[in-house]
Amino acid sequence: MELKDKVAIVTGGGRGAGEGIARVMAREGARLAVVDLNLENARRVANSIDPTGTRAIAIHADVSRKADAEAMVAETMRAFGTVDILVNNAGIEGPPVLLQDLAEEQWDRVMGVNAKGVLLCCQAVLPTMIARMRGKIVNIDSIAGIRMTFFGSIDYTASKHAVTGLTRHLAWEVADHGINVNAVCPGGILTPLMEQSTRPEMRDAIVKRVVPLGRFCKIEEIGEAASFLSSERANMITGQLLAVDGGVLTGYGEDLRSVLRQRMEDRNALEH
Ligand SMILES: NC(=O)c1ccc[n+]([C@@H]2O[C@H](COP(=O)([O-])OP(=O)(O)OC[C@H]3O[C@@H](n4cnc5c(N)ncnc54)[C@H](O)[C@@H]3O)[C@@H](O)[C@H]2O)c1
Repeated sequence: MELKDKVAIVTGGGRGAGEGIARVMAREGARLAVVDLNLENARRVANSIDPTGTRAIAIHADVSRKADAEAMVAETMRAFGTVDILVNNAGIEGPPVLLQDLAEEQWDRVMGVNAKGVLLCCQAVLPTMIARMRGKIVNIDSIAGIRMTFFGSIDYTASKHAVTGLTRHLAWEVADHGINVNAVCPGGILTPLMEQSTRPEMRDAIVKRVVPLGRFCKIEEIGEAASFLSSERANMITGQLLAVDGGVLTGYGEDLRSVLRQRMEDRNALEH
């Protein structure tokens, strides 16, 4: 129980990776504010963790709005008396387009949620954490924040690079208040949305080309990383990006493994 009785806010906790994070943190003993634009989904997750509402509550908020971010923290404080952990997970992607066709509205919306949303939620929670001289912030970034998205648009890549910058810079700013700020950078996560919006052949082709471990990540595996970075075990870690990507960032997938196998066979043949 690495988060026993800690109070955690998980944004975008109503489905996908956020749901996985909320479940793992609950298993580790945390009390949870499951925050989502979709209140029904947030309620479903909170109720499944604790139907009595004592250890998990649902909150409606749009993280791209300052007033909502502040209300989210106030409501969590009313329910649990404090906030120990903030997981900035809420994130969106627009339709895949090339730069020439990218609508200004899509750029504003994606940057508004993915980048400004992280900023506003951090601003809302920090006074409480600073007053107590402790706290953990985990941003759900992406390998798109280190390299680029594998099947999205430039706005998504840019927004996740903003999350990387926010993580590193804020880690430095709040280090003397005893607050740790880190990021988890997933590769592909097999969420229900990913299953609905991509064809299985396309997913298989991507995995084969770029994921050495040979599969996309489960939502709970993002939860494991977020839970670790929120725990006392990570007290000396700050400003870091933890890729949970099955090895995508090594840059070498199965295609290259078969090239290596072929080279070894060729060499053996030459030697004998
Ligand atoms: N799915 C992937 O392959 C993948 C890969 C790398 C990183 N990520 C990141 O992981 C995070 C979660 O992604 P996911 O795939 O689980 O997404 P998802 O769409 O399945 O879930 C996102 C949740 O966030 C909520 N949300 C969206 N906008 C919001 C807002 N303005 N305010 C509050 N809640 C909002 C949605 O209602 C939804 O419940 C995102 O930050 C995403 O960029 C996902």
